[in-house]
This record gives sequence, structure tokens and C-alpha cells, in this order.
Amino acid sequence: MVETWTLLRLLRWTTNFFDEKGIDNPRLDAELLLAHCLELDRVGLYLNYDRPLSADELNVIRPLVKRRGQREPLQYLLGSTEFWSLKFKVTPDVLIPRGDTEILVEEALSHAAETGSLLDVGTGSGAIVISLATELSEWQMTGLDISLQALHVARENIESHQLEQQIELVEGNLAELPQQQYDLIVSNPPYIARSEWDGLMPEVRCFEPELALLAEENGLICYQQLAGQALQRLNSGGWLLVEIGCHQATVVKELFSAAGLTNLFVRDDYSGQPRVVGGQLL
Ligand SMILES: C[S@@+](CC[C@H](N)C(=O)[O-])C[C@H]1O[C@@H](n2cnc3c(N)ncnc32)[C@H](O)[C@@H]1O
Repeated sequence: MVETWTLLRLLRWTTNFFDEKGIDNPRLDAELLLAHCLELDRVGLYLNYDRPLSADELNVIRPLVKRRGQREPLQYLLGSTEFWSLKFKVTPDVLIPRGDTEILVEEALSHAAETGSLLDVGTGSGAIVISLATELSEWQMTGLDISLQALHVARENIESHQLEQQIELVEGNLAELPQQQYDLIVSNPPYIARSEWDGLMPEVRCFEPELALLAEENGLICYQQLAGQALQRLNSGGWLLVEIGCHQATVVKELFSAAGLTNLFVRDDYSGQPRVVGGQLL
């Protein structure tokens, strides 16, 4: 007799399959993927454990399970992710926003006055600038990226959060920032050195955009270029705040100091790793 694929049976099979493929949270990923395919939330999954799955449902689920087994990131398969408790569309054209980057958002908020102007350099999906715009309604903001494809995704996210009046997008290279002055410049730039590439997880190395990850000069080129322009692009009293890789705090602080920024600080993330460096133009 052919055994029926109930939801629970498929969930167990998928969890084992993901585990064998080396996926970090196999049960969670299996639950999220099945819930997505069946248009249920996770509670809905638990309530439907005994439900037999139709051939049509299995045909939708199987290819996605296979792709996740090949280490394609879950967020690209779902088409969205959460950041700052907001929903963002993500595609392989943008980096998947990371929870650690919320530290940069927190620091920007704690250095922001009532009104002002902000530039998010390397905006990608728009996660940082959109999160900040939802908190700082009196600010005018700009998201800049070199990737037109990423800017298309950012545009859709801005529209879905109805922030078109507050955020403009600019295609450009961070080596030459727009000829304007800002109260806050924030950036989560590419900062992985080429020598670190092979050590990245397959989800990152094989699927996320190389343009969003790799940086020349041992991962430091973007910090050098941003620091070099800070004096011209910041208003007096303004801050440059950047996310960093966990070994880059000292050298980025030195770059900021050499560029003339003061009140330098390093903020750790919640796992105790240095995550944000900031400096002020006085
Ligand atoms: C690490 S991702 C950050 C994306 C998003 N801000 C986030 O935190 O999720 C870096 C972004 O910088 C962009 N980028 C890379 N090189 C750049 C350059 N030279 N000028 C402007 N943007 C650049 C990439 O396209 C990518 O969207």
C-alpha cells in the first residue's frame, strides 16, 4: 500500500533531508517552507499535521525543497524576509538583510535629531533606509547603490511601505557620493576580503550577489572611500556610521580618525562582536 504524504510526514522527511544537507536549522526551515507553500502560518501547520497533501501541493513543494537542499537561501525561496519587524521583498539581486544590521539602525536613531537629511550608501533592498524612515518621519532620506537591479527591489520596498515622499533612490558609486551634505551617512558596504571568500557558507558564496559582499584592499576599500569624503559630505555635527566585519574595528576607527572625524566609537552586536563604527564631523 502506498503511504499517504500527510503534512507531518512531509515535515519530518524534509527536516531529515535538510539536516543531511548541512542546513543550520533544518526543522525551522522545513516549517517555514511548507507553511509558505501551503499558505499557512506556523500555527496553521501544527493544526493540519494529519492533513493529506494533494498531488498539486506536492508538485509545488518538491522543487523548493530540492533548491533549499542545494543551499539556496530560504529567504530567496520565500521571496521576502523580516528586518526591523518590517517585511522586505528580497531577490538574488540584493543581499538578504541581516539581524546584526539592526545595530546600525539603532545607532542611527540614537544619533538623529528631530529633522535632518540622511544618505544610506549601498542601500540594496532598502532595509536600512526604509526602517529609519518609518522611525524618523521628519527626515529626508536618500538610498544610493551601484546596482540598478538592487535599486528596483528597493523601489518596490519603498512603495510597499508607502515612503515614496520621504526616500529618493540614486544610482551611483560610493567612490563619488552625491554633491550634497547630510546630517547622517550610514552604510553597510561590502567588506569581505577575497581571501575570506572560500570560508563563506554556501548560501552566501553561491547565491548572494558578489557585488554586495566583496571589497578590495582586504575588505577596506569602501571604508577608505567613505572616510575620504566625510568632511565634504557631512554637515557640521553630522555622523558617519558604518557596519563592519568583526576584525575591522581598529583599522576603520583609524581611517575615520585620519579623515578628521572625532568622537569615534565602536558598538558591539548582541553576540559581543564589534559591529558598528561611528565618527562625527565637528
Ligand atoms: C552589504 S550590501 C548592503 C545592503 C543593505 N544596505 C543591507 O544592509 O542589507 C552592500 C550594497 O552595496 C552596493 N555596492 C557595492 N559596491 C558599491 C559601490 N562602489 N557604490 C555603491 N554601492 C555599492 C551593493 O550593490 C549592495 O547593495
